[in-house]
Amino acid sequence: MSSFDRSPLVVTIDGPAASGKSSTAKLVAARLGMRHVDSGTLYRTVTASQMRGGEAPELWTEQSVLDAACHVTLVPGETSFVPRLDGAECEAEIRGEAVTGQVSLVAKMPHVRAWVNAMVRSTAASHEIVVDGRDMGTAVFPDARLKVWLVALPEERARRRVLQRLGRGPTPDELAAETADLEARDLKDREQTQPAADAVWIDTTGISQDEQVGRIVSLAEQRR
Ligand code: C5P
Repeated sequence: MSSFDRSPLVVTIDGPAASGKSSTAKLVAARLGMRHVDSGTLYRTVTASQMRGGEAPELWTEQSVLDAACHVTLVPGETSFVPRLDGAECEAEIRGEAVTGQVSLVAKMPHVRAWVNAMVRSTAASHEIVVDGRDMGTAVFPDARLKVWLVALPEERARRRVLQRLGRGPTPDELAAETADLEARDLKDREQTQPAADAVWIDTTGISQDEQVGRIVSLAEQRR
């Protein structure tokens, strides 16, 4: 990247499951007047599309998943690009347990990764975006002007996830179960979940969301 870089600004926010990437990225984008893209929602929507076919996951092939991806589009919303499945909103479906349980299988497929990456890159060609995921700062936008790597302790990530889902703090059993689920998904996703060498690390365990967002916004403003 040269100091005369005038390509649309891209900010990447990567990290493990439930590290707060998407909610942070959405707020950062709104503060900067940019649009948010959540690459995980694309993997989730492709998975949901494949699941609608009704075949058992053992029968899914890279080709069947790519065919399922033809039903997925990414459309501009007010502050985010949002996925559509057969032209319709699908948020509840893609956040459900069934999709969450199979998405890592789909995300392992190299041609599916290439499809998601092309979709995100083509969005960034004409818009300033804040994009979150696992490998946005490494595989997809190695030249991004700002790369952030968000981390938090597994129990903290699990606590936030339950709070988001149930609107209350977890019981000890719920916390243990959620932590185990997150760690299992981290393990399945570990290959593509790596910080870029030049990423700014932010540990969100002990800081508020406002503070995280403020730090990323001021870094982005310096590099804009
Ligand atoms: O971020 P989220 O948890 O919604 O992502 C869902 C899944 O999509 C992850 O568990 C991972 O398998 C996959 N993913 C990925 N690379 C990305 C974003 C998500 O492999 N850049």
